[in-house]
Order: sequence, then C-alpha cells, then structure tokens
Amino acid sequence: MHLIEFDERQQLFHLKNEQISYIMNIASGGYLQQVYFGKRLQVYSGIRAYPDLNIQFSPNPAHDKDRSYSLDVSLLEYPGNGFGDFRIPAHSIYHENGSQVTDLRFKRYEIRQGKPTLTSLPATYVMDASEAETLLIVLEDVGSKIEMELSYTIYKDRNVITRSTVVRNTGSENHMIKKAASMSLDFANRPFDLLQLHGSWGNERQLCREKISPGIKLLDSKRGASSHQHNPFVCLVEPSTDETHGEAYGFCLVYSGNHETMVERDQLGQTRVTMGINSFDFSWKLTAGESFQTPEVVMVYSEQGLNELSSTYHDLFNERLIRGTHKQKERPVLINNWEATYFDFSEEKLLEIIEEAQSLGIELFVLDDGWFGKREDDTTSLGDWVEFEGKLKNGLRFLSQEVHKRGMKFGLWLEPEMISPVSNLYNEHAEWAFHIPGRDSAVARSQYVLNFALSEVRDNIYQQLKAILDTVEVDYIKWDMNRNMTEVYSLDLPAEEQGSTAHRYMLGVYAFVERLRSDYPELLLEGCAGGGGRFDAGWLYYMPQIWTSDNSDAVSRLKIQYGTSLAYPPSSMGAHVSAIPNHQTQRSTSLATRGNVAMSGVLGYELDISSLTTIEKEEIKEQIAFYKQHRSLFQFGKFVRLLDPFLGNEAAWMFISKDKKEAVVFYFRVMTQAIRPLQVLKLQQLLPDRQYRVNGSDIYLGDELMYAGFFIDPGLEGDYASQLFHLKALEVE
Ligand code: GLA
Repeated sequence: MHLIEFDERQQLFHLKNEQISYIMNIASGGYLQQVYFGKRLQVYSGIRAYPDLNIQFSPNPAHDKDRSYSLDVSLLEYPGNGFGDFRIPAHSIYHENGSQVTDLRFKRYEIRQGKPTLTSLPATYVMDASEAETLLIVLEDVGSKIEMELSYTIYKDRNVITRSTVVRNTGSENHMIKKAASMSLDFANRPFDLLQLHGSWGNERQLCREKISPGIKLLDSKRGASSHQHNPFVCLVEPSTDETHGEAYGFCLVYSGNHETMVERDQLGQTRVTMGINSFDFSWKLTAGESFQTPEVVMVYSEQGLNELSSTYHDLFNERLIRGTHKQKERPVLINNWEATYFDFSEEKLLEIIEEAQSLGIELFVLDDGWFGKREDDTTSLGDWVEFEGKLKNGLRFLSQEVHKRGMKFGLWLEPEMISPVSNLYNEHAEWAFHIPGRDSAVARSQYVLNFALSEVRDNIYQQLKAILDTVEVDYIKWDMNRNMTEVYSLDLPAEEQGSTAHRYMLGVYAFVERLRSDYPELLLEGCAGGGGRFDAGWLYYMPQIWTSDNSDAVSRLKIQYGTSLAYPPSSMGAHVSAIPNHQTQRSTSLATRGNVAMSGVLGYELDISSLTTIEKEEIKEQIAFYKQHRSLFQFGKFVRLLDPFLGNEAAWMFISKDKKEAVVFYFRVMTQAIRPLQVLKLQQLLPDRQYRVNGSDIYLGDELMYAGFFIDPGLEGDYASQLFHLKALEVE
C-alpha cells in the first residue's frame, strides 16, 4: 500500500496510514490548500471542498475572473504576505527591489520512499526506507524565482507527519529571508484550546491550557536556546479533550535555538499555527543558487487524548530521534557531586562519596563544575579546559581510575560554549566572545558566550576537550550551557548578515557535538542548561538524556516532569534524589517520595551520601535495587498520566511494559488535611482479562483495576506523601 497518493482528477495529495490522513489540494491558480488532517479516511472524494466565498473587501488573486477566491480566508499550506493573505505568514522574503511579495504556486511534486536527512540539522529518521514515505512539493514564485520545497513525511506505523521546508533561490538576484517557518497549518473553524509548556529557571515546562481567542498568540525564545520560558512544543485540542479522550494535535520543533510558535484565530474562526526559527531579529541572505533548510516539526495526531499523543512522541523520539550507543540502552544510576559539595571538594571527599556510592549500587560518578582552570567559584576559567592543578591530590586521571577500579563509570561536567572574562582563553582571544565592537557586553553568571559559529573557536575548544578525553577515562559528559545570549554579533559577517548569527551559532554547536559523538561513540551525553533551559527534540538527537531542572525538590518535580512528559520520554529526563531541606525550595520531603519522583525519570542521586544515616543508606540501596530491576520499564515502558498535579493536590502516573504484563504505579499527594478526600485511583492500559498480583500479594483482574479502581489508603499521612504499586500479570497456564 502506498502511503502517499496524488489524485490527478481532484488535484489532491492524500497522505495516509492505518491511523491518520493528511490531505491537501492544488486549488485553481496553483495555490496549495489544506483540506483535512485527522483520523484516517479510506478515500476522499471532495466533500470537504472549501466553499466559494465572496467576501467584501478581501483581495482576489491577480487575473481572477470572479470574486469567490481569496487568500484572505483560504486554508493554505505555506502562506506568504503582501498578496492578499493578512494572517501570520509562514515566510517573508525581501527581494533586491525592497518588496517582499511572494506568490507561491504549485510547480511540481515528487514522492520518495523513506525519509531524507536534513542538511546540518537534527531530525527524526527511518532505519529502513519501507518505514515511511516522503512527499516533496515545490511551490514557486515566478517573479522572484524563489522555490519553496515543502517536505512531508508520513510514517507507516505512527500517527506522525513531519514537515520542513527548503527555500531555494533559482534566479540571479540576491534575496533576504526574514522568516522561513518550518510549517504552517490551517484548520477550519473549530473551538480549539491551546496547550503550551511555559516556565522559568527551576520551574520548567509548566502546563498551561487556554481557549484560543481571536487574534494572535506568540510563544517564543530570543535567548539563543530553546529556553526555560517557552518550550518549542504546543498542542491544539478540542475543549473536551483530556488525557484519555478526544482529539489532540501536537507540534514539536526539532531545534534548540531561537524559536517561534504563532497561533492565530482569524475572522472566520479558522486557526492557523506556524512554527519554526524565530523570525524576530532573523535574516538569512540567499544568493543565487543557494538554499536554506529549516528545522523539522513533528506533528502528531491523537484521537484518544493526550496520553496517546505523548506515547506517540515518546516512541518516535526513543526509536527514531535519539541515536547512538545509548539509544534504548538502560541508562546508569548516577551520583553527581554538585549539590553534595558545590565547588568545595577534595580527592578525599570525592572518594568517600564514590566508595559509598559503589556500596549502594550506583553505577556512574559524575564530577560536576570546578575541576578545571582555577575554578573555585563561578567567576573564572570557562574556556580553560585543563585540569585544576593541585585541587585533586593525585589528579583527574587517578580519580577516573579509582572510579573504574570500583566497577563504576566516570563522568565529567563541561560548559564548552562559554568563556569567563577571567580566563587564559579570554586573555588570548577576547574577540571570540559574542560582543559588539565599541560596546560593553552584558554578563550573566559572570560569563560570556563563545561564538560557536566560528570554526576556529570550535577547533580550539575541541582540541582542549580531546586532550582531556584522551587522558582521563571519561564515559559520560554533562554538557551545560548557563546563560542566555546577548550581543549576538559575528565579527566575520557583513552588517546585513548579522541576523543569521544566532542560527549559525546553533549550526556550529550541532556540528561540534556531531564531531564529538563520532570521535567518541561510547560517550553517554547528558544535556543541561541551568537545568532544563535547552530541553528540546533537537538536543535529544545528540544527547539521549537531559537534566530536567535545577530544581530537585520532589514536589516541584511533580509538575515539571508531568509537563515535560507531554512531549519527551521518561528515558530522557534526568531526575535526582537530593538532600533535605531541598536547596532550591527549602522543603523537606521523605526519602521515599524523593525516590518515587526520581525513579520516574533516569534515576540519580545528588547529595552527600557519605553523611547519611545507616537507615537512609539502606533505603537508598533498596530504591536502587528496585529501580534496576524495573529499569527498562521506567525508561522505555509506556508512560501513562493518571492524575494531573496542575489540576489539584495530587499526581499519579504509571509505567506499563509493552506486553502489558508488568506495571509500576506512583501516587503522590502534596498537602494533607485533617479529613482527607478519598481518592479512587483507576489504572489504564492493563489487559482486562488478565490477573495481576499487586505489591506481591493480592490478585485482581485488569478490568477491576481499570474500571472500578481502588481507594488510596486513607491512612496515608502527612504532606508530600506518596505510594508505589507494583503489578505483575500471572502467567496463564
Ligand atoms: C548549572 C547546572 C547545575 C550545575 C551547575 C554547575 O546550574 O544546571 O546542575 O551543573 O551549573 O555550575
């Protein structure tokens, strides 16, 4: 069966698999229109043809004979501006004469097996050409000789369509791209809600749901990274859609830099969503013969609510975005010394922690900030990636060997994109830091950003890192990025091309990590940007896990991890048990609750375990043993959200194996009260006819556990309480 068909008679493209259909048609005059995106249709025979509308005041295309077609209201696939569509344009291109009208008409199409890669950018992929088909539609503005190649990939077995665009200059003039969205999609009049993940440092990816009202909503980052504030992911859902019911459309940008999502409800109640590189302050000069590739957007359709939408993203990202040795490999339980010691560590202290870690079953020791240059605090040494002479008595290599001797792995913290004004690198190459000649630069955390768009900068840092990696036995890198970008200016570019710097920077960072990955394929990389300031699908292409937030408080993490799970799989979420009172919120929660929250991601510890009581150590040992026993379930099982902490005082979720024979359920209650409401917890996804043993004792059928549910123990006491349930299906004789 073909996944993509072109119906010559109706001039219609139909992308479909067993679950979804995406339909476009070429309207009279050659405009590419959106017809339908949703649950699979066997055939489309024209019932949804857009009505002829004669709207007073709306322009009609040049040479149009009647007044019934206007771009002002049509549902379009890649709209421009200045030609009769007054809504958000998907692109804006300045020509040499200063005009920016593009009149894109259909030129040709091509259907390919599989999915082509994107030049220099991260993207989802196929392992075999039979997994997907790709439709390339070329639209052309004859006047400027600009071609837009719209790429649509449909996967055979997933409710996924990916989109991206190539802008091509086939003429002899130069053009300036001001905006080139990855995609734009128009929906006929529907009362959508918008779901977005907003936040701040220590409070990332908070779920916000709002009704889409007339006008434009902009969600973006101008910070140089995808940001703590607005994640490049949104959903459009029906007002009645919840975790288990209703239609939901997800849009996830595979990019880690400045991004922009715009949602507009127009005069007819139609909704347009565009997503891509942020057009604010962006420009890209396109000389004759050149092309510009936009990042990719992963669109997911679910007719069974948000859990199904998330599962589709999780599976796709685990299976066809994340790459390399550690893809789908169980990730080690780690201990990180940051919250244990901050900058104040010695070899003795670290060995004490390592010794203890080994006895508790921890598999990876990560030495965080402070091991290089003269880094006693956060004011110096970024850019000087040489060992801090004398800080560790026997040196870094010795420490890595000591860790390995104990059968553990060794990891190191790095912040390669940064430079401290107090550093040897800055003394030698102050010009490599982003700055504008003649102006003072803003500092953040006492540091500047290196211009990673420049190959000489990348080479210098690469050689420094290589020297470390070739002497110290490093298995893991925590790649940090601790400030937003300002004075984004490249000394090697002419004035008119400065608007391309932020994107060139991102391409430089991607090229750097790609080189690192290919030279050191065994390295496990974990992303970080002041916690989760760069938690996006682009970064996951290079790093299979990301530190979810600097806020390790178990209660804050309920919302942070719940929100993050909307798009990103638990296998990608670094989650640590830390000390109490918590260093970010001063809250004290039980070790059990801290463990239950951290087990819901990639489990780690970030506290001075050598100073714990014997009872606490025993409890941690048990947590780790339990986690290891069920690790593939936690990291790669199906994650199902049951109770939403954004809606109340409780949270619950479960992990269930793909064969549905095993599950672990977590329940959390934030605040207690004298008389507590009785909560019935209903599970999901179990086999209704199968018997499950719960917590090693009682046996219930799956349907009972799902449809009748069970009461949470009314005796569960105290604030920040939690419970864990383990379910195992009985073998059928
Ligand atoms: C950032 C990270 C932390 C830690 C510090 C070290 O804030 O998010 O986890 O690594 O830097 O300086």
